[in-house]
Amino acid sequence: MGDKGSFWMPESASSLSGEVDALFYLTYWISFVILGAVAVAIAYFAIRYRRRSESYIPPTTKDARILELASIIFPTILVLIVFTWGFKVYLKLNIAPPASYEIQVTASQWKWDFGYPDGTVYAGDLHVPANRPVRLVMNSLDVLHSFFVPQFRIKQDVVPNRYTSVWFEASRADTFDIFCTEYCGAQHSAMLGKVIALPQAEFDEWLAGAGGGGLSPEVYGERLFGQNTCNACHSIDGSRLIGPTMLGLFGSDRALESGESVLADENYLRQSIVAPAEQIAAGFPNQMPPSFGSLPPEQINALIAYIRTLQ
Ligand code: CUA
Repeated sequence: MGDKGSFWMPESASSLSGEVDALFYLTYWISFVILGAVAVAIAYFAIRYRRRSESYIPPTTKDARILELASIIFPTILVLIVFTWGFKVYLKLNIAPPASYEIQVTASQWKWDFGYPDGTVYAGDLHVPANRPVRLVMNSLDVLHSFFVPQFRIKQDVVPNRYTSVWFEASRADTFDIFCTEYCGAQHSAMLGKVIALPQAEFDEWLAGAGGGGLSPEVYGERLFGQNTCNACHSIDGSRLIGPTMLGLFGSDRALESGESVLADENYLRQSIVAPAEQIAAGFPNQMPPSFGSLPPEQINALIAYIRTLQ
C-alpha cells in the first residue's frame, strides 16, 4: 500500500510528505548537477591550462563581465526558488487547519503521553483518526525532547515550560514510527512509540474503550477555575475585578504594562499562571499569587482549554 520509500527517504504517508520530498529532490538534483558541472570544469581547466614548459608565462587574463554577472545572478535565482518554495511548505507544515483534532502530548524521561479531548491519557502509542488533520500541542515535564515521525516528515522540539505544536494528516490507516530525536538522557534511544492511524469509526471505538469517561478538559478547567478561586479576581463576563476578565482573552492582542503587546495564546496563558510577574497586563496591579506556578501540567492544560471557550 502506498509509497514504499526510496534510497534516501522512508515511505511517505502524510498529506504534506510528498511536498517535502519534492523540495528535497529539487535541491538534491540541483546539487547533483552543480557538483557534476564543477567536477567537469576542474578536469577541463586542469588539462587546458596546464603548465606546458618551465619558461612559459601565461598572458594576463581580462575580466569577463558576462561570466561574473552570470555567476551571481544564476545562483541567486536558484536560491530564491528554493527559499520561496521552502517557505510555502514551511507555512503549510506549521499552520494547522482550524478544524484539526487536538491531542496534548506530554514528553518525559523517557516516554510519550497522549491526552485526548475527552480526558483520556494514553501512554506510549499515539492513536489518531486517519485522513483527518491532527494537531499536537506538546510540552515536556523535564528536559528537551523532540517528536519525530519520519513517514510524515514532521519533527518538532518538545520543551519544558512552553508549548510547541505540530500537525499532520495520516494519508492512510497504518502504523508509523515515533522517535525522540533530541538526546534526553540514558534511555533516549528507547524513547520510541507508534502512530496508530485508524479509520474514524475504529478510532472512536478505540477512544471509547481507552478509559475515557473522564471530564473534558473544558469542563475540568471550569471546575478548577472555581476550586482555585480564579473567579475571585477574574470575571468571565467582561466585568472588571482585581485582574483582567477572561472573556475574549484567548487569541486577543494584550497590551502589557511594559508597553509591549503579546498574543494571548497557550504560551501566554501558561506563563501568566506559572510566572505572572513576567507579563503584567496594562492597567492592572501585579497581584496574581505565585502559588499557581505549582499546578500540575494537566490542570494548567485544562484551565487553558476552559479559558479558550470564553469568547
Ligand atoms: Cu526524549 Cu530523546
